[in-house]
Amino acid sequence: MKKATTEKTNPMATSGGCPMINPRYSFTAGPVGGTLLEDVELIDKLQHFTREQLAPRNVHALGSGAFGTFTPTNDVSKYTSAKLFSKDHGETKLFARFSGVFCGREEAETVRDMRGLALKFYTKEGNWDLLTVNIPVFGVSDAKSGPDTIHAMKRDPKTGEWNTGTVWDFTVTHEEGLHQAILLLLDQFGTPSSYRNQNWFACNTYSFINAEGKRSWIRLHLLTKLPQGGLTSAQAKMVGGEDPDFLRKDLRQSIEKGQFPEWKLCFQTMSEEDGYKDGGYAFDPTRSWCSKQYPFIELGIIRMNENPSDHMFQTEQVAFSPSNVVPGIGFSPDRLLQGRLFIYPDTQYHRLGPNFKQIPINMPINNPAVPYIGGPHRHEKAHFPAYYPTLKDGLQPLHDPNQLSHESNAHRHEEPAGYFNYENDSGPSRFDQIRDTIKRYPNNNLELNIARSLSKVTEKEIVNKSLELLRKVDDGLVDQVQTLLSKIQKGDESILTEGQRLVRTLQAVPQV
Ligand code: HEM
Repeated sequence: MKKATTEKTNPMATSGGCPMINPRYSFTAGPVGGTLLEDVELIDKLQHFTREQLAPRNVHALGSGAFGTFTPTNDVSKYTSAKLFSKDHGETKLFARFSGVFCGREEAETVRDMRGLALKFYTKEGNWDLLTVNIPVFGVSDAKSGPDTIHAMKRDPKTGEWNTGTVWDFTVTHEEGLHQAILLLLDQFGTPSSYRNQNWFACNTYSFINAEGKRSWIRLHLLTKLPQGGLTSAQAKMVGGEDPDFLRKDLRQSIEKGQFPEWKLCFQTMSEEDGYKDGGYAFDPTRSWCSKQYPFIELGIIRMNENPSDHMFQTEQVAFSPSNVVPGIGFSPDRLLQGRLFIYPDTQYHRLGPNFKQIPINMPINNPAVPYIGGPHRHEKAHFPAYYPTLKDGLQPLHDPNQLSHESNAHRHEEPAGYFNYENDSGPSRFDQIRDTIKRYPNNNLELNIARSLSKVTEKEIVNKSLELLRKVDDGLVDQVQTLLSKIQKGDESILTEGQRLVRTLQAVPQV
């Protein structure tokens, strides 16, 4: 309220704080003369304009935000000492960013893609970031394959075009990613009709540590209160053509109307001992944990109730990382997670500069005494002396090992170090899990979406290998895909979308 009054009463100024004399017309040598270099207002305005955009995120570039709250509803002190979860804690404020994964910042939001939801909980013990996608399993289980999957799924770096061939090539050479690929080809997950009606999954295995220092492994999930929903490919293309910002508008307008989207935050838990059984599949994000064996336990309710006031200031400058945990929440040997603990802050130093945690949207609310100095764009004064230990009145660490939960004993190093293939056969079968998913989501146009996708692949060998891989899931599925694929290849009008027919007609026009 107070801020708005100040904004109204202060006159428009240059970035140096001097009143702007003429924000509209340049200072020229007479009515028809050239612009004078001493028009410092013009220079100030143009210089700022050319620096207005931040470098986009390498993935998840397309995003929209919301403020909200987390309210604990359950006594989970048996599992975690994290204060935000204790039943009498009350609300914790949060900022959320919904995103597409592979599509660029200016593309239509409805293209087939995975979606992300990142949450920053501003707790009294520091920021806890929870990063999720709308698909329960991830496509790779080792961070070393992370950049490769992104190179294969994003626009082809050679041509700058989308290339379905590289997507299927990656899938057939990384069998562990087939479940994620199938999920993406189900309308419910690949082309959601709203961010609000999606479930969100952290995929990676984290840990909870209780007040006695006892650790258990966890998987975190957000369950929507709305019926889940997706668009068919044809609907998604029509909606995206009509309104490329469809999903973000749906989110903003629902919050404006007071229809606040809500999710139940839940976790599955596994004992520390069990995590090391069955080849350690519990740490493999390409496989889910059976919900009958590891039932969902409620932590609380997430509600989004306020729209951001400045897209660049909040939604673009926010920086989430799985490395931001609070006491009571820790990591695991999940080797995808391990790589992600490094890559997020690293990319954010590059994208936002070394003091990005002092940008207001990233700033913890507990006034942290950070022992670092210098760097561009500092907003917080440093603490001196800038070394430790000291006989002077310097910063002191907290000497309570239970508070340092994420550092304590997450790993067992009983075997010699090495490069291990993580595609182990122990634990639940990936292919059984894929078959379960297909059964759970009928009427999602899976066969048609696969056939349409494969019809864009020009390399015959990749198509054949993809069909061979799909046969490991279900013969019937492949037979249907093959029938549909040959219809598309023959140009059967009944199966082509209007867009496909138009593209074929345009491509048939002779070029002179
Ligand atoms: C090795 C695999 C992965 C790599 C290499 C990777 C890389 C990245 C990078 C570079 C960003 C941009 C960060 C920024 O510039 O601020 C990002 C954002 C994001 N990632 Fe990942 N990621 C991986 C796996 C995952 C997984 C498993 C999840 C969740 C289940 C996830 C969820 C997200 C979300 C939600 C964002 C968007 C954050 C935002 O809105 O700012 N990522 N990822």
